[in-house]
Amino acid sequence: VLTSGGDAPGMNAAIRAVVRTACGRDMQVTGVRHGYEGLIEGSMEPLSTRDVSNIIQRGGTILGTSRSPAFRTREGRESAHANLVERGVEGLVVIGGNGSYLGASDLHRDFGVPVIGLPGTIDNDVRGTDYTIGFNTAVNTALESIDRIRDTAFSHDRAFFIEVMGRKSGAIALASGIAGGAEAVLIPERKEDLNAFCRMLGEMSQRGKRSLIVVVAEGDQTGGAHALAERVQRETGIEGRVTILGHIQRGGTPTAFDRILASRMGVSAIDALQDGEEHAMIGIRGGRMVVSPLDLATEADDLRIEELLRVCRELAH
Ligand code: F6P
Repeated sequence: VLTSGGDAPGMNAAIRAVVRTACGRDMQVTGVRHGYEGLIEGSMEPLSTRDVSNIIQRGGTILGTSRSPAFRTREGRESAHANLVERGVEGLVVIGGNGSYLGASDLHRDFGVPVIGLPGTIDNDVRGTDYTIGFNTAVNTALESIDRIRDTAFSHDRAFFIEVMGRKSGAIALASGIAGGAEAVLIPERKEDLNAFCRMLGEMSQRGKRSLIVVVAEGDQTGGAHALAERVQRETGIEGRVTILGHIQRGGTPTAFDRILASRMGVSAIDALQDGEEHAMIGIRGGRMVVSPLDLATEADDLRIEELLRVCRELAH
């Protein structure tokens, strides 16, 4: 088992579930350090049930993680495969996001190693699952900050531009924006007409809205919260303040939702390996655990994004 890509709260609960389920079924588990980097370097060790005690409530990942350019090369994967063979590893559980799934897929294609993906990323941008491990916690972390900012925004009649994580995904922005009652949400998946956007904020202000909250995903096409605030001030005269939430969204105690999701997915990963799945991911759909082909993981869910944007627009008068 390894964790890869950006860490996400609940990854530890997933590691624990994988280890305990497998050990309970007389399988042996090897933990790989720092994602695919550790696989290439052979940095791995056996994990027992006791090794994963007292981690269900901890953020981050006890195994460490990395983004590994070396694993994208054939040489890197050859080295990783040799290490797996040397240790008698018969299957790999990869906890991570889309990039991590691509790595797993390459390993399976090149060497036939059975791989099971568990969606672990705060970005909630993995197709094949309604929710990824860590998303719920990250949204609640962002929301707590948005609520605090709203207090001071209201007191001063101010506009705030709050930048949340998501270089390619607007999921955190949409969820925290709706839950935080934001006037607008800007996301990487949609190009906004900035003139119309500024006009809309100007009209809201003229209609007597005391404070304006705009949530911007970091990968938004306007260039982020600072650029947006400057443009709005130039075009409407509304003076805004900027808050960039940054990596606090990746850390912290996982919510009950993420712990339960990770636990269920960990058990399902071992079920899938024992059922002979070789190139699959675990997801949650309509409240149930589902197994789907790993490749599905790289597409975006346009319908969901469109509906969430509409909810935001409909409620922002
Ligand atoms: O893990 C996902 C994520 O937090 C994205 O939301 C963000 O764009 C990116 O990782 C930041 O990555 P890092 O700072 O680790 O390079």
